[in-house]
Amino acid sequence: MNINIFENSDLGSQFVANRIGKVLAARNSVSRPTVLGLATGSTPIEVYSELIKKHRDEGLSFENVVTFNLDEYYPMEPSDIQSYYHFMHQHLFDSVDIQPDNVFIPNGKIHEHKVIKYCEQYDDKIAQVGGIDIQILGIGANGHIGFNEPGSELNSVTRLVELDEQTRKDAAATFNGIENVPTSAITMGINTILKAKEILIMAWGKRKAEIIKQCLFGEVTSTKPATFLQTHPNVSVVLDAEAASLLDLD
Ligand code: F6R
Repeated sequence: MNINIFENSDLGSQFVANRIGKVLAARNSVSRPTVLGLATGSTPIEVYSELIKKHRDEGLSFENVVTFNLDEYYPMEPSDIQSYYHFMHQHLFDSVDIQPDNVFIPNGKIHEHKVIKYCEQYDDKIAQVGGIDIQILGIGANGHIGFNEPGSELNSVTRLVELDEQTRKDAAATFNGIENVPTSAITMGINTILKAKEILIMAWGKRKAEIIKQCLFGEVTSTKPATFLQTHPNVSVVLDAEAASLLDLD
């Protein structure tokens, strides 16, 4: 894994946005679509702001971009302000020229009886468009990526999962109390994520320092799903100084 440490999260976010912008511009120039795997949460917000700036100020077009989001709470109405559907429109999609038909976010209101088939089709759709060119990730305090909670295996695919207690605690403030946080979610699997051609995982702040150390250098294990990233040939880790503070890089 290639580790990039920045003084602060703004500089780290610019690095990620620059990488995405470069790939996008290169593919746009030969009229090829770009497939992006996207994350929500606090970590990528600044990346999305930077991408919006590139669109506005430098004419970077998202017209040929296809996006797949990692996850969505379940059950969840897309119109709900806590939905990841809402998050993505608020932080990125409403401010760029992406085509609504090219946006894929797991549907938090799919009927329980249809969810297995729906998840299979989500993975099939990614394959049909040629796979994900760049996947961006944050990391949970428990080592989750997407909502692949501890116990998620290397071969896991897109599926309905139960959320870990830690994950629900971390989301409690957004939902005005843990009792309002959904207990389930639909997430891309570890296998789905690792099929991406390039992965950029970001972490900011002291709160992430311990889990980053364990996931980058610890034993590869399903109890810390982000450790599976060690098995991927093209991962860039992007950290601010605080998230990198426990790494021994000499
Ligand atoms: C969000 C996601 C999660 C978050 C992780 C970190 O789509 O898949 O894995 O990336 O929980 O969340 P933040 O960025 O809020 O610290």
